[in-house]
Amino acid sequence: MFDLAFKHGFVVNGEEIRRLNVYVQDGKIAEVSAEDHEANETIDATDRHLLPGVIDDHVHFRDPGATNKEDFPHGTMSAAVGGVTTVIDMPNTNPAVLNGEDVRKKAGYFKGRAYVDYAVWGLSLGDLNLCDLAGMKKAGAAAVKFFWGYAIDEKTHALIYNYEPGQSGVIPPLDDGEVYKIFEEIAKNKQILGIHAENSELIHMLTERNRQAGGSDYRALMDSRPALAEVLTIQTALAFAKDTGAHLHILHVSSAQGVELIRRAKADGVPVTAETCPHFLFLSADDYDRVGPMIKVYPVIKEESDRLALWAGLKDGTLDFVASDHAPHTVAEKQGSLFEIPSGMCGVESMLPLMLGEVSKGKVTLPFVVRVLSENPAKLYGFSHKGAIAEGRDADIVIVDMLKRRTIRNEDLHSKQPMTAFNGMDITGWPIRTYLRGKLVAKDFDIVGNPQGEWISCPQY
Ligand code: DOR
Ligand code: ZN
Repeated sequence: MFDLAFKHGFVVNGEEIRRLNVYVQDGKIAEVSAEDHEANETIDATDRHLLPGVIDDHVHFRDPGATNKEDFPHGTMSAAVGGVTTVIDMPNTNPAVLNGEDVRKKAGYFKGRAYVDYAVWGLSLGDLNLCDLAGMKKAGAAAVKFFWGYAIDEKTHALIYNYEPGQSGVIPPLDDGEVYKIFEEIAKNKQILGIHAENSELIHMLTERNRQAGGSDYRALMDSRPALAEVLTIQTALAFAKDTGAHLHILHVSSAQGVELIRRAKADGVPVTAETCPHFLFLSADDYDRVGPMIKVYPVIKEESDRLALWAGLKDGTLDFVASDHAPHTVAEKQGSLFEIPSGMCGVESMLPLMLGEVSKGKVTLPFVVRVLSENPAKLYGFSHKGAIAEGRDADIVIVDMLKRRTIRNEDLHSKQPMTAFNGMDITGWPIRTYLRGKLVAKDFDIVGNPQGEWISCPQY
């Protein structure tokens, strides 16, 4: 007798949709077949789609440190309700994750406070912790993040969002020589280096120029952080990856030119993967008047032509997957001058609904959504026990109602600072239940039960 059965649903994998029954035993998928077996609990999934749980490798849950903005329980509740069953938490917390010991500590600290499964990133600060990167891998970190072009607070290692050269108490952005050493070390340790790609020198010069010209609107912000800033860093990074053999993962690609560089590099055999985010796929500069300062993220949301090129890149495999870059700030912080307020918004809860909405409009297919939200991130991080509804994998299953119509609303989000640029967007196609290793964790847009999430110690590759 199986523990749990999902009967008569449409099972979606990366290739196809098939009407099959799914049987769960001890938290794992024990059988996917047309056979009719008994189970202790049977869910009638007629007219529903079953998707593998989403894997979001890019969340800033701010815990520990800035728990007024977000914390691990709220962030993972948001994830569970949004059909995300695995998150990888970014390391720019306070304290930051700078060595193997920090990885273990953070993983332990999240225990009992996670509503979904989780892995953690380590943070590279260049020479300061170069010799600690190997230890992060040993301790189980999924990958190493490098905020290229960011200055960092000397004491707390917090990111400086709006850096001025000469500012005291900060570690200025690293020069390329020091960055090259990170790539060498990553290659040696066979790790993954995830980068924030923006050239700070160009940004600084343009920011000054635009400020002096009196610019304060979204155009001025865009002109201060143009596609060229992303291009310069991606170019250098690709050259470093090619030269050292380090696996480069480019985070939040935001421009058409960025996509084109990655396309050519992949054709050239450079060890590179890349992701983009829902805000780049669903918003452009044209939305600023409607959305306001909530739209500010780094890299900045660019032109409609960039948005279309990102979709093209995602469809042809240049971009491997989509991740939320869930990075909330407080409502108060997000008020004020566009140049001064911090960048970032909520995203983990609305990512799957937004993609399902595209399916309803006939723009993409459900197997495509499964590839770019579950299968491809599982492959990158070696999560061979996740990312598909298949025998032997974890029973991370999302029940989707493709006919459900609902509006994304700030007040419905489970984040500690529920604010999104997608507020007010009508969507057809919603996750209505989320199962984590066979246990129901979210139902009808709310959380069910206690935190059941477990740490995924990496690398599993
Ligand atoms: O907009 C952003 N916010 N971009 C980043 O890269 C960092 C993030 C944050 O941590 O707030
Ligand atoms: Zn981020």
